[in-house]
Amino acid sequence: MQKLLIKGKRNLSGSILISGSKNATLPILAASILAKNVNLKNVPLVKDIFTMIELLKFIGIKIKTNKKNKIIQLKNTNKKINTLAPYKLVKTMRAGVLVLGPLLTKYKKAKVSLPGGCAIGTRPVDIHLYALKKLGANIKIKDGYIIAEAKKGLVGNKIRFPSISVGATENALIAACGAKGKTVLTNCAVEPEIIDLISFLKKLGNIIQISGRKIIILGKGLTYKKVSHKIIFDRIEAGTYLIAGALIGQKIVITNVRPSIIKNEIKILRNIGAKIIVKKNAITIIKSKRMKKISVITKPYPGFPTDLQAQLMVLMTQTKGISKIKENIFENRFMHVPELKRMGAKIEVKNKVAYIFGPTKLTGAEVMATDLRASVSLVLAGLIADNRTIVNRIYHLDRGYEFLENKLRKCKAIIKRV
Ligand code: UD1
Repeated sequence: MQKLLIKGKRNLSGSILISGSKNATLPILAASILAKNVNLKNVPLVKDIFTMIELLKFIGIKIKTNKKNKIIQLKNTNKKINTLAPYKLVKTMRAGVLVLGPLLTKYKKAKVSLPGGCAIGTRPVDIHLYALKKLGANIKIKDGYIIAEAKKGLVGNKIRFPSISVGATENALIAACGAKGKTVLTNCAVEPEIIDLISFLKKLGNIIQISGRKIIILGKGLTYKKVSHKIIFDRIEAGTYLIAGALIGQKIVITNVRPSIIKNEIKILRNIGAKIIVKKNAITIIKSKRMKKISVITKPYPGFPTDLQAQLMVLMTQTKGISKIKENIFENRFMHVPELKRMGAKIEVKNKVAYIFGPTKLTGAEVMATDLRASVSLVLAGLIADNRTIVNRIYHLDRGYEFLENKLRKCKAIIKRV
């Protein structure tokens, strides 16, 4: 099994090109089921994307991947479509459930494996199913599968989400594009990745309006236009490297970003003390010698993202005083805490809140993590730790970080995969 070896305490300097967003690409790939001919650019070449490609190929979509130019071309001209998403593909990547809405709206039926739990919590799909039922689907659960049908097709409706869910908003949004009439979704997630999905769906011919957490959809989704779309930058990857810069950056410049989308994160890093210079498509960050404590609560966008919580926690081990993070989105997302403690961090968790006592010196250790963002937080910890850190189970990192070691090495980090 592959591991990362990191020799810490080396100041980082250099520039990092931020990749396209994994979490925008996944729903857009699923939504491509609606179209005949799609060309996606700025696609991140990470494991989750390849799993989604495998799933779409299984369904019957023809896909060509141009790795060098990060372009994916999808053609859906196959008469024999398989409206099934099998367990073996959905179990490794929860976002597989996003094919439910598009299959159902276009082919009037779908059988999709229940994704099951994962390390960070139970992660049910009840809100996805609630919304699809409101659009007229008949849904039952049998043998671990969601079996959905809408014999006469889906019909637009007014749907208020009982709580904010990124995936449920995406599934409902895509399904509404193929439904008859108007759909009004309220209490929606409005993450930048959802805005990117909306811009893709509009290119297919759908009329979509968004104001606050309300999205109105007038579906024209089965018009089969040929579309081309460039995926938005990965704000979580950008945030991760900004935190690396705040931790140990002599000067790190991240490029290919839209700073206004991550202004909240920039504000938090400035409050901690990092020096940040914002340009049109680039952000420079320089570490501060004296970092101040801070309190953060994870929330749906535009709040602080749960996907950056573990990385921010590493930074908090270096701030003066007691910093706090309240994890409000997932029930079990402090799995990195015991590993960080093994490296010397002083952290206490009470219910949903982690108290981080700093500054503390971290020391290299052999560590492993159980999810994507927790793993990258251990890499960040390794970058500032004394001696050598070994990060195990890096297949988690490969699910969502494109060329992680190369990007860090370009900034003079000593990191290698063995
Ligand atoms: C997406 C992101 C993930 C991010 C998360 C929150 C993708 C591929 N993944 O995941 O990286 O951490 O948003 O920003 O984009 N919930 C229910 N019932 C449901 C659906 C969700 O109870 O039917 C709960 C979840 O358990 C969780 C909360 O709602 O506690 C938010 O989850 P959701 O926004 O749906 O996350 P995902 O779309 O799975």
